[in-house]
Amino acid sequence: MIQGVGIAGVDIGSTKTCAVIAEVRPGREPDEPLPILGVGVARAEGMKGPSVTNLEAAIGSVRDALGRAETMCGREVETSYVGVPSAYIETSRSRGVVAVSGAEVTASHVKRVQEVGRAVPVRPGFELIHALCQEYSVDGRGGIQDPIGMMATRLESDVCIVTADSTACRDLSKVVDRSGYRPEELVMAPLASSLAVIDDADREAGVALVEVGGASTDVIVYVGRRLLHAATLPWGGSSVTRDIARGLGVPEEEAGRLKQRFGNARRSEVEPKEQLDVSGPGHGAGRRVSRELLAHIIEQRLDEILGLVYEELDEAGVLDRLGGGIVLTGGGASLPSTDDLARSVFNLPVRIGVPSAGITGTVESVASPSHATAVGLAMYGAAQHRSGGFAGATRALARVGGWLREFF
Ligand SMILES: Nc1ncnc2c1ncn2[C@@H]1O[C@H](COP(=O)(O)OP(=O)(O)OP(=O)(O)O)[C@@H](O)[C@H]1O
Ligand SMILES: [Mg+2]
Repeated sequence: MIQGVGIAGVDIGSTKTCAVIAEVRPGREPDEPLPILGVGVARAEGMKGPSVTNLEAAIGSVRDALGRAETMCGREVETSYVGVPSAYIETSRSRGVVAVSGAEVTASHVKRVQEVGRAVPVRPGFELIHALCQEYSVDGRGGIQDPIGMMATRLESDVCIVTADSTACRDLSKVVDRSGYRPEELVMAPLASSLAVIDDADREAGVALVEVGGASTDVIVYVGRRLLHAATLPWGGSSVTRDIARGLGVPEEEAGRLKQRFGNARRSEVEPKEQLDVSGPGHGAGRRVSRELLAHIIEQRLDEILGLVYEELDEAGVLDRLGGGIVLTGGGASLPSTDDLARSVFNLPVRIGVPSAGITGTVESVASPSHATAVGLAMYGAAQHRSGGFAGATRALARVGGWLREFF
């Protein structure tokens, strides 16, 4: 049997490293679901928040995660796509203009207007990682996805420029490279998550991806297929864990365990009389606390974080443009009733973003909101490779997201 190319998505988070391996087989059609062959998760090491603080430790974590994923699928990875945390990302808008002089717009006009749009100076200390050509205008008429064949005097492109901190990029690349896996490209992490859990219809209607991670909560907004806004807040699931540790007087390790086993984002959803055994800070200092108190602490903090996201969306002026609602991803969105809490904060439709569309194979092994980034990174990488690199990738990306079609 001919095997395809093994591609890994590598998500180096503040609490865990997650690797997902997908296989791109030769002759694969663009809209064929992507086979997911393996997944591996390892505890994050050598990271402080989004930063690599200990290279060797971080390398160990990536080796563990990728090694587990390789063992699961019984094959090795040729190349990997690595997420860049939002904290290191800046986005801006740029426009490209070319003269068409009253003739039909051709593919070469489109290519040129893309190039002009992405030719922007990048500020020192940053590097360009994506130039998303989001739409075109023909003689001032905007909102055009495909201008080829239209009569025009002037063709414009609307480009979202995504740059990333060069030092962070270098550190992440080094970690993956020295782990023994070739880092092919760096990808904005929440952009990758959105590939795994948001479809074109949601993007068209307007949707906000809210990724509640460990150290941060990332927001990315699409309206009319355009990436309109991106932001990050320095609070996430780790803030919740810290509150539990403080509120219940237990070590953080124990607080994390209690949260994951017995936590709920809604106090009203748990049985008020139920008591939990907790191990105290001292030897054998076992105690009992009410499960309702645990849920109360979680609800308070999550409500606060989501409230800040609401303010962010309000300030960006997009709240009334989210017909597709809110999609929650990240491990911090795993607790029962999180969607219910979010519904009351945003007053919008809310769903938990679990990767499933566009993939096949061991789908159940990645069916968690905390796997969205790694799955999206693998999908992004597969779209690049599927048709043999850059030239063919444009067609392949149509499946991953129509809005990414003019990516390059
Ligand atoms: N099953 C679960 N139930 C409840 N909470 C969970 C669960 N799984 C993970 N979490 C919480 O999710 C948080 C980590 O989320 P995630 O894995 O998305 O973060 P990360 O990618 O490591 O961090 P970041 O993206 O902020 O750098 C932690 O606070 C963890 O306690
Ligand atoms: Mg993350």
